[in-house]
Amino acid sequence: MAENAQPTIAEQAQDVASKLATSVADTLNFGEKAPKEDVDRSGLPILYIDEKAGSDETGSGAELSPFSTPLKAYQSIKPTIENDSNPTQNVILMIRKSDSVERNEWIELSTSGKKKLVKNISGWRKSQAKLLAEGEKLQKDKLEKDEKERKRREEAKNIILVDDESKESKKTKIYAVPELVGSRVRIQGWVHRFRPQKTNYFLVVRDGTAMLQCILTGDCIKTLDALDLTTESTVELVGTIEKVKQGQTAPGGVELLVDYWKILGKAPGGSDAFEGRLQQDTDASIRADLRHLELRGETATSVMRVRALLLRAFRDAFHKRRITEVTPPCMVQTSVEGGSTLFEFDYYGAPAYLTQSSQLYLETVLPSLGDVYCIQESFRAEKSLTRRHLSEYTHLEAELVFIKFKDLLDHLEDMICDVVEILLNDPVSSEIIKTLNPDFQPPSRPFMRMDYRDAITYLNENGITKEDGSEHVVGDDIAEAAERKMTDQINRPIMLIHFPKLLKAFYMQPLESAPDFTESVDVLLPNVGEVVGGSMRITDYDTLMAAYKREGIPSDPYYWFTDQRKYGTTEHGGYGLGVERFLAWLLNRWTVRECSLYPRWMGRATP
Ligand code: 4AD
Repeated sequence: MAENAQPTIAEQAQDVASKLATSVADTLNFGEKAPKEDVDRSGLPILYIDEKAGSDETGSGAELSPFSTPLKAYQSIKPTIENDSNPTQNVILMIRKSDSVERNEWIELSTSGKKKLVKNISGWRKSQAKLLAEGEKLQKDKLEKDEKERKRREEAKNIILVDDESKESKKTKIYAVPELVGSRVRIQGWVHRFRPQKTNYFLVVRDGTAMLQCILTGDCIKTLDALDLTTESTVELVGTIEKVKQGQTAPGGVELLVDYWKILGKAPGGSDAFEGRLQQDTDASIRADLRHLELRGETATSVMRVRALLLRAFRDAFHKRRITEVTPPCMVQTSVEGGSTLFEFDYYGAPAYLTQSSQLYLETVLPSLGDVYCIQESFRAEKSLTRRHLSEYTHLEAELVFIKFKDLLDHLEDMICDVVEILLNDPVSSEIIKTLNPDFQPPSRPFMRMDYRDAITYLNENGITKEDGSEHVVGDDIAEAAERKMTDQINRPIMLIHFPKLLKAFYMQPLESAPDFTESVDVLLPNVGEVVGGSMRITDYDTLMAAYKREGIPSDPYYWFTDQRKYGTTEHGGYGLGVERFLAWLLNRWTVRECSLYPRWMGRATP
């Protein structure tokens, strides 16, 4: 140690420890040397030790709550180092005689006990000194690191990148940059990934249209912003677009060599960093709470992108067929699919519901607009938590006029195949389908058409039972699990037709040849089950009135629907397709919840 220099804490501690070691060596002989205890000890505190039944964790040293070791008793008086060689000068340590639990006999710590205690104190002080030294080293390292960081930031402050306005740059979205090789461009986006290296920083930036690899070098990695950069920060970058070198890959095959950049909005690092909030093993309910962050991930983004392209493909396919889009109301005062799944609310003092289906409204505009469709939210107060049920889902419904049941089935098959083809021909959706569902095969035509009664036979012949283990009989509602088993076994789209009247909604047209069954169809797809439900509608006024009666539905609130049968009735039919279920099939998602922007299910309406 230099003269005048203050000893460090560790050095002081080491010194104390070595002095203590010497004094312990002396004291260990105090059998001969120790002074006779002729001082008055009557006022000293007494601590009790029971080596068998006491506790160093919970004991207090009182007779009824003894410690288990003399060392702990000694430590409890918070002794100074000077006391260590004669530990009982300020305290009386009483030990329970080992055979006296019942008799409660205590004796003062013996001379040999004291020797042992002094030895233990020495060990304790040494480990304390070691801990102190380690703490001091940590503190020193931290100070050095902080100082280095402070200097780095000080130097970084002086490095200012200049946004040279005289140099031309084209503001662009990332999707367009592959066409701009050699140009100087300006982009804005979020830092998706970030890999700092000694001489280069590699950023992957996304702007919602695509991703771009950006390379920062030289002064660009020495600024304060470079030191502060975190993933999910928003940034503006200016530089030249270049093709990636041979043998290397980057999104779009190009990269941006940055000459100017800055942070626009800094995302937090440390314990609040984006990466830490959502991980592979994050609990499902936390994931659901953090859906707004999950949506920034690659899989969720891909699903939402295909969702948008899917809706566009359906609109194109409808447009091609001259089917007109309409936008029916969400707030209604009539049910379509039965009362048990209605969400009811107070509408200016009268009961109203969130719509279950826009079908009845679509039917009313057939006479004015001809074939129509809508893409509208439907609501079902489902009391189950299956992987294919939502409380709110996007319902794509169409209604076609002057058709027979076979026309409806052909149209459905046509639409599904057309839309899949559009998506497979689109470079963005086909790439995502390939990534998320590499085994996807477009459905082959014609779809299998299976009568409900044949399905019952199929289930029984293939050992697919009801939930209670019994065989299915005609009239049974085929449960979700059985339906899925059958669909997965057959492993191709099935049009399940002619359901019993009593299982289906009031508006379905009865089969002429078997009036207890209906001209109805469910389209079942592998991995999901029912994706479409449709039917021909009752055209005859009296038959409809009888159907209301059979189902116990008061006809008055439906006057506007009934009127369609009064003023020029026609054969017509339609269907509803669950967009999230269709997507789950197309992209091989485990649950429809992944296919909705902000899914709602029983008990969940957040965020
Ligand atoms: O079979 P559903 O109940 O039929 C109707 O609502 C008819 N009125 C439609 C019509 O003919 N215009 O529902 C149609 C489809 C189902 O096949 C399913 O794909 C989807 O809507 N669906 C649900 N999707 C997610 N969560 C739910 N709770 C769903 N309920 C129905």
